[in-house]
Amino acid sequence: MKKHILLGISGGIAAYKSCELVRLLKKQGHEVSVAMSRAATEFVTPLTFQALSGRPVLSETHQAGDGNGMAHINLTREADIFLIAPASANTLAKIANGIADNLLTNLAAARKCPLAVAPAMNVEMWRNPANQRNIAQLLSDGITVFPPANGEQACGETGTGRMPEAAELADLLPDLWTEKSLSGKRVLITLGATFEAIDPVRGITNLSSGQMGAALARACRAAGADVSLVCGQVQTALPAGMGETVRVLGTEEMYGAVMRRVRDCDVFISVAAVADYKVSNASGQKLKKDGSGRPPVIELAENPDILASVAALPDAPFCVGFAAESERVLEYARAKRIRKNIPLIAANDVSVAMGKASNQITLIDDAGETALPLCGKDETAAAIVRRIAELLPARGCGAAYPAPS
Ligand code: CTP
Repeated sequence: MKKHILLGISGGIAAYKSCELVRLLKKQGHEVSVAMSRAATEFVTPLTFQALSGRPVLSETHQAGDGNGMAHINLTREADIFLIAPASANTLAKIANGIADNLLTNLAAARKCPLAVAPAMNVEMWRNPANQRNIAQLLSDGITVFPPANGEQACGETGTGRMPEAAELADLLPDLWTEKSLSGKRVLITLGATFEAIDPVRGITNLSSGQMGAALARACRAAGADVSLVCGQVQTALPAGMGETVRVLGTEEMYGAVMRRVRDCDVFISVAAVADYKVSNASGQKLKKDGSGRPPVIELAENPDILASVAALPDAPFCVGFAAESERVLEYARAKRIRKNIPLIAANDVSVAMGKASNQITLIDDAGETALPLCGKDETAAAIVRRIAELLPARGCGAAYPAPS
């Protein structure tokens, strides 16, 4: 859903990260207006943000040439959300105490839309009891606080206080306006490709990038779920705010990691492209050419079917599968849903989906089939989550599938 985001920038070196943040939010399709404190303009010029946002940038409460001179009211009236990033200790303290003495603090006081802040400060300033009191006050006032990250700071000290990276904020921000349709649900997702070793340096794997799994993880988190990942090989950044992320290599390892965790879950989404066979005669040492010209013989043995095994558990969570096919997509997907005994399967054509940023899927469940449009994987993921949320109450969590007639 495209939004109008008002981005407030207070004085701090992390202001440079906000340039990238504007770019990422625009790339997500949002409108971005930027308002700066006077101190922020010492770090990055308003012109930089004007060029990136494509809109005029204000830094004074009453600025000459600004319409009716009521920018501190007008800007938040246009906005769906007000994010202050970086938010300095000084700005946070003022907002927590209702002080309105510059453009940002006036906007915060006059706003009708939700406010989120991304604090950025030195580790001792962050720990300071007065700052912690202010943060507690902001939280109790319903303001979202994106916790600062830990690491090396511009001042040379190390600890908590760094503003989260722009990509993380752009990833987390849409959670604020997403309907909490999976609130309180625990979701386990497998994603990426598994890898079956032939010898210590070679193996059998596939072209899955993990993008669809990462998009689903984001969509479930945005819908209020507590999400854990069991992750094979991926060529994408994993989303922030996950409960637990376990890295695995082979299908058997993924099977073990899933089985140890899935009993606590309400929903299991199997997006991983799982190797159906492992190498039963894998070599402990790197295979060498023996000069005969004969290739080595690689013997295969069948791996467990993780999704079918989870669906067969007595208290199975609501299971969602993917069918990535190169031909007869719907026919194979329908058969897989029945064979694996799962309520919902997402069918897609590998040529459209694998390694791409977009996807076109058809959702197949008891009620019928819904072809979603070709769109970005985040949009596809949001549609899948909406369908899961619709089906969950009817099916209930942990109910055996198919439901007794
Ligand atoms: N899957 C799984 N464990 C396996 C194989 C597949 O959990 N050993 C899951 C996948 O994550 C996906 C669904 O089952 O959600 C279908 O996977 P797919 O590779 O399309 O089908 P297969 O069951 O492997 O059947 P086939 O190879 O015949 O297409």
